[in-house]
Amino acid sequence: MSDDGAPTLWVRDAKFALDATRAADWNGGSVLQSQVFNALSTFLPAGEAFFVATLKEVTDRAGGLPDGVTSREADWFARQESVHLRQHRDYNACIALRHPFLLGFLRYVDRSWVLVRALTTKQSRLALTATLEHVTSIFARLTLQGRTLHEDADCGFATLWRWHSLEELEHKSVVFDTYQGLGYPLRIRRIMMFSVLIIFATETAVLCALLMSHERRLGSKASWAELWRMLRSKTAGAAWRQYWAFFSRDFHPTDIDDSDLIAKWGADAGIRSFVRRSVAQ
Ligand SMILES: [Fe+2]
Ligand SMILES: [Fe+2]
Repeated sequence: MSDDGAPTLWVRDAKFALDATRAADWNGGSVLQSQVFNALSTFLPAGEAFFVATLKEVTDRAGGLPDGVTSREADWFARQESVHLRQHRDYNACIALRHPFLLGFLRYVDRSWVLVRALTTKQSRLALTATLEHVTSIFARLTLQGRTLHEDADCGFATLWRWHSLEELEHKSVVFDTYQGLGYPLRIRRIMMFSVLIIFATETAVLCALLMSHERRLGSKASWAELWRMLRSKTAGAAWRQYWAFFSRDFHPTDIDDSDLIAKWGADAGIRSFVRRSVAQ
């Protein structure tokens, strides 16, 4: 607890040891399930820099934050995301040792975010950030529930994702509350969520295909069968239901109570072993 009785907001400065020889199959030996995570990581550094810059546009203006969001929470969000993006740069460099073409894809990702910034208004950038924070929190929740990582996943990669997931659930409401508090319309965040489904899902699928192809697994019947099982799984069903919940007028990120997951993983010895320093915001 802080001096004013508010919960402590932690920023965990972590550093993960990633084994490049496991880059393609670190998730329990499954190339497909490792490359899905690897593809997601590719989008994160530039995406999280965009999120931080977007919220900063609000906080930089005197009185810019609405009631219900404190500057302490906004700073906390920025600091957590800044550590994430640094770790995912290292992660992506590790993956690129095995898949050098990823360096070109990372340049594409960087340019695409510059284009998004040029083509959007402050309001739509905030809507897009709130949208992607929701998508991230879905993936984070499933990860901390033990539904995306294999028991025998490589410790460095798996713990990085658990650490990131923990902090995503912790700060899941900050941008959403900012967007809502500023009175911005439901319509824009619905449009952004629909756009994310089309554009981000397509980009992720294309990158996964490229990564699988580079591993010579694109034609593997076993991998296609595994993909089919993943798409028909209860985990995919849960993700889909949580995705659609965002379109509801009454939606709020806290509709799903993640406090047990946050308490459990906040005290996890595995995560703590990679954290060099925890700072209370
Ligand atoms: Fe993050
Ligand atoms: Fe986030």
